[in-house]
Amino acid sequence: MKKIITADGSITLFNEEYQEAYHSTKAGAYTESIHKFINPTKIVNFAKEKNLIYILDVGFGLGYNVATAINEIKKNSLKSKVIIYSLEKDKKILEKLKRIPPPKELEDIYPKILQGEFKNIDIESQTFDSFVSKGENFELYIIFDDARNSIKKLSKTNLKFDAVFWDAFSPKVNTELWTVNLFKLVKKLMNPKAILATYSASLAVRKGLMEAGFKIGLVEPVGRKSYSTVASLEGEIPPLTEKEKLRLETSPYAIPYYDNEELNLPSEKIKEDWEKRLKEKLSQS
Ligand SMILES: C[S@@+](CC[C@H](N)C(=O)[O-])C[C@H]1O[C@@H](n2cnc3c(N)ncnc32)[C@H](O)[C@@H]1O
Repeated sequence: MKKIITADGSITLFNEEYQEAYHSTKAGAYTESIHKFINPTKIVNFAKEKNLIYILDVGFGLGYNVATAINEIKKNSLKSKVIIYSLEKDKKILEKLKRIPPPKELEDIYPKILQGEFKNIDIESQTFDSFVSKGENFELYIIFDDARNSIKKLSKTNLKFDAVFWDAFSPKVNTELWTVNLFKLVKKLMNPKAILATYSASLAVRKGLMEAGFKIGLVEPVGRKSYSTVASLEGEIPPLTEKEKLRLETSPYAIPYYDNEELNLPSEKIKEDWEKRLKEKLSQS
């Protein structure tokens, strides 16, 4: 896999299957973690109020969001412990990421999260194929499967999360992870004040989150012009601008992606269905 040096000097990889980098090269990989995931989900504030905080991380990738979250909580709130469930379909990812040096800010924590073992874990009646790593202030469970299956199984447990990092590849290439059906299920896994953060500025994604029952808000851009997105049930999030509200009401592109009820449609089918509906909208406008 090709290495890329991003704008802040941290290194990411290019994924050949999806033809995308794991991180924003213009914002910088580490900067993206802090500005698009860690700060918008307010995990440091949660950690100051609670001894245990639960994070759902969708798309472990190179583990930068996970490592940055653990690092920031450790720096700011010595007492609290963070429990992270990270969803990833690529079981070989841990070998791949060992080929790159971590961002300098994560040099201490990164090797610690990678010291663990592959094993099955049981949560209530559900079994998960996992990599488990535990440290002074964290427990990390990387669950290997299509995240849709993992979310289906997690939704049958009593787990509730304080924050969700939604960091799949872009909706155009990784469409199965951006559907209304999946957002509805993840909503059930979130505490009322929990915030879901994603780098995506896509109208289809924003409309999908709204249709799933979330209120949504915008996060100041970094490394590009578009604002990223946050969603919550009752948490305090920045408001939508009037301009964005109008775009969401009137743009033909503001139509969500849909999976089937079992959440197992191929990504291409979900995208084809969306493109068909878009074409109809465009021909009417
Ligand atoms: C943009 S990268 C995540 C970067 C990561 N959050 C980080 O901080 O380094 C997206 C990840 O989602 C994973 N992925 C893509 N589709 C998936 C699926 N259906 N289920 C689970 N993981 C998936 C990819 O293998 C990839 O590792």
